[in-house]
Formats: sequence, C-alpha cells, structure tokens
Amino acid sequence: MTGNSPSPTNAGDTIRMEPMGKYKQTQNGNVRPQGTESPAGPTKKSLYENNGVATCSQKRALFIATVVFAVLFAVALIIAYTGPQSDCTCAGEKPPNYVDEDWNVTKVFVPRATNGQVFPWNNIRLPSIVKPTRYNITIHPNLTTLEVKGQVSIEFHVDKDTNFVVLHSKNLTITDKLVQDKKGHNLRITKLLEYLPAEQIYLEIKDKFRKRNNYTLSLRYTSKLNREFVGFYISSYISKDGDRRYLATTHFEPTYARAAFPCFDEPQFKAKFKMSIFRDRFHIALFNMPVVTTEEAGFYMGTGLLRDDFQESVEMSTYLVAFIICDYTHMNEQTKKGVSISVYTPPPFISQASFALNTSTQIMDFFEDFFMVPYPLPKQDLIVIPDFATGAMENWGLITYRDTAILYDPIETSTAAHQLVAVVIAHELSHQWFGNLVTMKWWNDLWLNEGFASFFEYLGVDSLFPEWKMMEQFILDKTQPALALDALVSSHPISVQVHDPSEIEAIFDTISYSKGASILHMLGKFLQENLQIGLNDYLNSYKYSNADTKDLWNALSRNTNQSLEVKAIMDTWTQQMGFPLITIRRENNEIVANQERFLLTTDELNSTARLMPKSKYDYKWYVPLSYFLDNDTGTVYNIWMNMTDVRFEIDSEIKWLKANVKQSGFYRVMYEESMWMEIISTLRRNHSVLNAADRASLIDDAFTLCRAGLLNASLALELSLYLINERDYVPWATAIAHFQSWSRRLSEALPYKLFLQYMRKLLTPVTKHVGWDEKGPHLDRLMRTDVLSTAVLCELNETIFTARNMFEAWMTKNQSIPPDLKEVVYSAGIKYGGLSEWQYCWGVYNSSNVPSERKLLLKALGVASDPWLLHRYLLETLDRNIVKPQDVKTVLAVVAANPEGRLLAWRHLKAYWPTMQSLFGNSTFMMGSLISAVTAHLSTPYDYYEVSTYFNGMDVGSAARALQQSLETIKLNINWVTHNGPEIYTWLKKYFGETVGGV
Ligand code: BES
Ligand code: ZN
Repeated sequence: MTGNSPSPTNAGDTIRMEPMGKYKQTQNGNVRPQGTESPAGPTKKSLYENNGVATCSQKRALFIATVVFAVLFAVALIIAYTGPQSDCTCAGEKPPNYVDEDWNVTKVFVPRATNGQVFPWNNIRLPSIVKPTRYNITIHPNLTTLEVKGQVSIEFHVDKDTNFVVLHSKNLTITDKLVQDKKGHNLRITKLLEYLPAEQIYLEIKDKFRKRNNYTLSLRYTSKLNREFVGFYISSYISKDGDRRYLATTHFEPTYARAAFPCFDEPQFKAKFKMSIFRDRFHIALFNMPVVTTEEAGFYMGTGLLRDDFQESVEMSTYLVAFIICDYTHMNEQTKKGVSISVYTPPPFISQASFALNTSTQIMDFFEDFFMVPYPLPKQDLIVIPDFATGAMENWGLITYRDTAILYDPIETSTAAHQLVAVVIAHELSHQWFGNLVTMKWWNDLWLNEGFASFFEYLGVDSLFPEWKMMEQFILDKTQPALALDALVSSHPISVQVHDPSEIEAIFDTISYSKGASILHMLGKFLQENLQIGLNDYLNSYKYSNADTKDLWNALSRNTNQSLEVKAIMDTWTQQMGFPLITIRRENNEIVANQERFLLTTDELNSTARLMPKSKYDYKWYVPLSYFLDNDTGTVYNIWMNMTDVRFEIDSEIKWLKANVKQSGFYRVMYEESMWMEIISTLRRNHSVLNAADRASLIDDAFTLCRAGLLNASLALELSLYLINERDYVPWATAIAHFQSWSRRLSEALPYKLFLQYMRKLLTPVTKHVGWDEKGPHLDRLMRTDVLSTAVLCELNETIFTARNMFEAWMTKNQSIPPDLKEVVYSAGIKYGGLSEWQYCWGVYNSSNVPSERKLLLKALGVASDPWLLHRYLLETLDRNIVKPQDVKTVLAVVAANPEGRLLAWRHLKAYWPTMQSLFGNSTFMMGSLISAVTAHLSTPYDYYEVSTYFNGMDVGSAARALQQSLETIKLNINWVTHNGPEIYTWLKKYFGETVGGV
C-alpha cells in the first residue's frame, strides 16, 4: 500500500499501551480515569490523558507504563493458568448433561471455548441481567499495516447477583482485561473464555457482581481492518492524480459491531457511546457525534498523531455506531432547527454532492414536522463509501452511502437514478426516528425499521417533489414486488423468529421492506390522519428505548377512538405469511366476495404446499375491501371482511366493479369471467374511465392469476391489448415487468418469437409517443427510458435504428447522449454491435468518474449477444480491482436475464461459488441475492435438476431461504410454460392471423 499512509520508518517507536482504569465523567463531559488530576494544560500531559492508546512519549510515562504492564501481565498469566477453573453450570440454558425429571440423561451439546474448556453459556442470546450503560471506546487504526489497537471500557448495571458476564466479540484479540466496581476497586477475574461459533466471550470473577450495582469492564484488544465490507474495514478510492487513497470505515448492522469492539451487540442493549480516535494529521475522523477536542497525541511509527475526542452520544443500539477515518472534503448546510447537515465525499466527487445536501436538509425539516419529534443530535453527516455492501446505512448522525445512492450529476445522471438518490436519502433519514430513536426489541421485528423506512421514503420524497407522483409509483416499487414474493410457499411472516446472525441477515428482504411498507400504506388508508397521531405517540412512548410490533398496534389503537381493533386487524397481516385472493362473484343483485390464501403453487406442487406451516389465523385476514362501480368510478366504497366473506347489494344494471382501489390493499382480486370480459372491453373502449393505478392493478392481478393457473393466458393477453392506447407510466411499467418475465420464461418455448413480435406491436405506439427528446413531466421521463429500453430488447427495429445511430455518434464523434437515453443507446449499441462497441463501453466504464454512468454501463455490457464476450465479462467480475464485489450481482443478474447469457451465468455461479464466497467474505450476505439473480429465469426441468443437485447438502448460510424461493420459482416457471405455452401460441397465431410453423 502506498499513498496517504505513514510508512513504518522509525522502528524505535513501538506502540505503548496505557494502564486501564475506571473512567469517570468530568463536568465538561470529557472522561478521564479516576484517581488522576485534572489536566494541567497542554504542556503537562498526564500519563492517563490519552485514554489509553498508542501515545505518550515522555520518559516518566514510559517507565511507569512499563512497570505497571509488567505487573499486570504477570498477574494475568497467573490468573490464566492457575486460577479456579470451575465448570460453572449456572450460566446458559442447560447444564452440559441435562438430567430431566425422570432421571433420563440427555446429552446436550456442550460448547467449547477456544482453549478447550467448557464455555458455560449455551445460548446465542446474551443474558439479560447485565445491562451496559456507557461505552468509552478508544481506537487507533493503522491504514498502512491494517492493524487496529483498541480499548473499550463498558459501564454496566447488574439486575441480579451473578459471577459472570457474557458479551460479543468477533475476530478480536483481547490483550488486557480489568473489572472494577463503582469505587474503582479491581475485581479478581478468574476466567476469560471465547466461544467462536456464538461470537461470545465469557468473563467470570471470583466474587459476585451484586444486584443493582454498577461496574466497569475494560478490555484492550487488537484486530485488523478487513476487506469484507462489514465490521471495521478498509476501503479506497482513486484521487485526481491517480493515487489510491485509503479510508477506514464501519458497517455494523445487524451483528458486526462485535467485530470492531467487544460489546453487548443486541439492539435492546442501548447505551451511551463516547469515542476517541487516533489518526494522522492529513486525515479526518468522523463519529456519530461531533468532535469536541483534537489534541496532539505523540509519535507513532515516525508520524505525529492527533487524537479526536467526540461528544458523548445519546442512548443507542450498537449496530448504529459508526466511525470513519478518511481524507474527504465536504459541504454543509443547516436545517431550519439548526441541525448541521454535511455531505462528505472523496475530493473528486464533491461536485456531485449538492443534490444530496439540499434534499437531505429539506427532508430532515419535513420529518421533524411530520413526526412532531425533533432530531436529537447536533449534526447529520452523509458520506460516500466507495466499497459498500448495501445501498446505504442509517448510522445515527453518520449515514453511509454507496456512491450511486448519493451522488448526482445533472448532466450525466438519469431521472430514475436521480429519483433513487432522493429515495435512499429519505429512507435513511426516516430511520433516524424509526429505528434509531425507537428500535425493535429484537430482529424478529426488523420490519419496524425497514417497513417504516420503506414507507416513509416515498412520503418524504413526495413532500419535496410532488410532481414526481411518488405515491403512484409506490404500488409499482413496493406492493407489486411484495405480492409477487409473498405468493410463494417459501415466503415468511413479517414477524419472524430469528436467532443467529445468518437468520438475522436473511430477513433483510422484500417481505420486511416492501410487504412491511405495503401494509403500512394499507393501514394509512383506513386510519387516515390517526396514523400520524398514533405514530407520534409511539415515538414519544418508546424514544431512546425499544418496542415490538404489539407496542406499535397499541399506540395506534389508543389514537383511533377505539373504533378499530388495530392489533386484531394487523396481526392477521404480520403474524401469518401470504395474503388473500378476493374472489368477486355476482349472485343476482348481490356481490359475494370470498377470501382464501393466494399461492402461485400449482397442483404439481401440492406436496410442497402440504408442508406449509399452519397459521393460527387459518390464513384468513381482516381485509379492508374497497371498490367502485362502473357507473360512478369516482365514488369509493369500503367494507370490512373480518376474516370472513362478505355480501353486498348492487343495482341490477351494474356490469362490473373494480376492487382494491388503486391497489392500496395488500391483496389480489379475481373476478368471474364475465366481469373480466366487461372490464377488458371497458379498458379497450376507453381506458381513462379507470385511474392509472387501477389499470396497473388490473394488469398485475391478471398476469399473476395467469401465473397461478387461475386465469387463462388468453384472458391476460386480451386485457393487454388495451395497452396499444396506454400512455401512462405506472401501467406500462407494470406490464413491461410481466412481459419481460413472460419472455424470459418462454425463451426456449414455441411461442417465443411470436411473443416478441406481440410486444413490439404493443410497444410501437408508445415508443412514438415518448419520442427521443428529453422533455415532459417526471413520470414521462421514467417511461421513456423503460419503454425504449424494452423496445431495444424485444428487437423493435425503428428504436434500434435511432439508438444505434446515437451510439455511433457518441463512439466516433463523442456526441453526448441525454441521461435518460443512455440506457437505451448503450444497450442497443452493445446488443446489436460487436467487439468494438463492447470494448468502447468497457473503456468508458473503466475511466468514468460518475458512479451512475458506471452502473449503467455495467448493466449494458451484459446485454451483449456474443457468448464469448459474455463469458469474458463474467470472468472480469472475479477481480475485485476491476469489478467491485458490491457490483458483481448486477453483472450476473443482467447476464442471466439475457437469453444468450442465462446458462453461462449459471455455469459461472457453479464454477466460482467458492471463489465468490471468499470474495464476499465470511458473511454470506450477498450470496442469497446472487442465487436469486442467476436462477430466477430458469424454466426447464433440467435446470431444476441442475440447481437442486448442485446445492444439495451445501451450507449456504443466510442464502438458504433465497435458494428455497429460487427452486420454487423454477418449478413454477416449468409448470407455467407447460400449461400456458400452447395456449399463448394459439392466441398469438390467431392474433397475427398467420400460420407460423414450428418457430
Ligand atoms: N438498514 C439498512 C442497511 C442494511 C441492509 C443493513 C441490509 C444490513 C443489512 C438500510 O436502511 C437500507 O435499508 N438500505 C437499503 C437502501 C434503501 C433505500 C432500500 C439498501 O442498502 O439496500
Ligand atoms: Zn433501511
């Protein structure tokens, strides 16, 4: 490593550890160890002033430190090797050999510590009687050697007498330990054990921690900055001069704080955090809170270090702590209430930060008003992290972002990417209340974080850009994908039991995020303004504390004049998986609405269905059924289905009704065939009788019901014919998503080519409507990109012709391409071009400094038609210096979605599965999404055989559910093609009025 880090020149300067002592709060909020004098000014430095890490060059200090350490070390050795080694069975769930009441001896699993001794705590959860109240962390990362030296003092409270504490630690080498009571007396430590599988350490003392007393545990440790994007890790970027610059950053959610410092790493253990960071002069250090003082901290490896001491945090969970050491620059603004907002980026990117700064400042104001709870910290930093596993992370006051989720360049960035930046900003800012201020008690209620943030991200952006019509887009981006996933047998309830880190990671999924957001959207429709009032009550009741789902429902019930049983209603949506299909049938002058669970599972899959978990609600729901009638589409009726069916009267002349108005409920609707036909003919006659969201919801329901075998493919196709006249974004985007999945599933089946022809036929008028000029409202701009890109993929010559001309002009004459057309032009150039087009784009990808541009190119490169190019492309993803690990999924997903690349992508995944596992580190975090991306489009029995045999018996960690869902999806794909292929073929042949033989 070269560049911005100190070089290890002065071998005489070795790191010197300081004695650990009890830290006491001084009046000005600074901490210093008990028994020392007040600081006597900058010239006279006490040995203890530096909080214990890596400094102090005075001889006297060195001498004392050496003596004290020699003594401490000797004592530690004595304790470690001669101290009492009792196999205490008072800890954990069960003693190693558990004898039940009938004197049966059950051999239970006995955890072994790293030294071979029994680890006396046999529970993945920590004991609840020991509660941390304050952490004092001092850390010195060396960005050259990657070595980290740290010290943490944890003040804790004990509820019951005990002689041990258990806390988390992962990949840390603990070098010193000390326990003191509140008077500063040392307690004799008899054991310190580490149990790797549970990422826990166990510390036992000779005497007892007494109930209702406070103690301090101080640990000194070393570790290494890793490259795995979690815990405390190293990242880098390339400076303007072409040098690689390093930064050290953290990502802790859900269970990685323990990899940066020993801690009680569960969300309910909220505590205050105080931080000191040693850094080089040319770096800055950031923490959740602002810096209070910066001091010279002596020399280390020939370099003068500085120490930043930060203001103490509010009570917060460990997963929200963050600290970063980098050489960034920043820009700053204030909110109305005086909170200081800054955006930090590497210097080359600062010009792309203005939009994020503006947007976040305004959204902070909006949320403070909307939630009616002030933001409690003095500052909010948003920072770009060049290597980042997810999109963004809501660390309190120091939000980290992947580059594409925060940087915006008005000349280069598309409307869709622009919108995404605003959405991600709003998402993380809403977490500052939902998640940070009020946190779920345990990860089983993750949806209280992610569901809320996924709901409020749209509301937040809507408040700023009403013309973006975010709430219209909500159904497209949240409700529809969530309904799609939740129709699988392998789905899970929103509230789900989780225990270990891989189970916890696995629920950061569409169910927690999008189903969570969708049921809140539905709730908002029937609670109206009481939602806002109830949420304010919830935030105030649980601030700086934790809540579970029941607490939320109770807060909402309290604020609805008890007119609605919020808990009873919502339990049916959160405690059982799936959602209802409402079947609408007419009986004379009555409408009968039935409910039953909707599943994509077909007959052949019934054996899986039988294994389906039982639900205590028997898969019945409280459904807020909304509808309007054909004679007055503006009047909405609402009726409750209380885990039952309903009947209601309608006039005899009514021919159809549309239920689930604007798809705001989390359910699907099936009409009897005659009513479908009426709706279809209305759409074809004059689709504007229905709102755009209702049209989208009809398309989504019809295509999905066809996928489930409940509706004939011909009916879905008949409905789709109205699209010839459709000019709105949300219905088109819904249809495009379904068309694309039909086309992928059909790609090896008879009707494939005819189906592409049909897509071209429907798309042609709308491609003319959107045109090539960058103009019109926001949704039209989004539609332009979607429609034209789809036209390119389904081989619409007119579009391809124009797009290829633009590509040519760009490649040969450097003529610029408007941002919303880039995707269209790049994909046409690559798909229908050859090696030189591909190489040109690859060159631009490698040299561009605009993250959104790089992301577009990465996607476009995967639509190539030449298998050799695709194969080479896949191989490039194995070199982390060429394609960042965070982007590998994007590449595999586009190649797998490309009919030419599908099998190549699958073969690549198999061939390099172990390599990729090591690329992504021990955390199998990204592996689930890789499996889904690569296998989602497979649709032949042989594919199923391949995927199931390959993964059979393999431990895929947190990817397990994603794998199950992928296998179920492949089976569904196979069934669907078998059952619908012939009918689609017949319908299309009839439609085109031609006889197409064989192909
Ligand atoms: N809290 C998450 C980040 C996260 C995700 C941590 C998965 C651990 C596991 C953050 O708030 C988040 O949801 N980020 C999203 C972006 C968001 C706009 C949907 C992400 O990273 O994808
Ligand atoms: Zn989130």
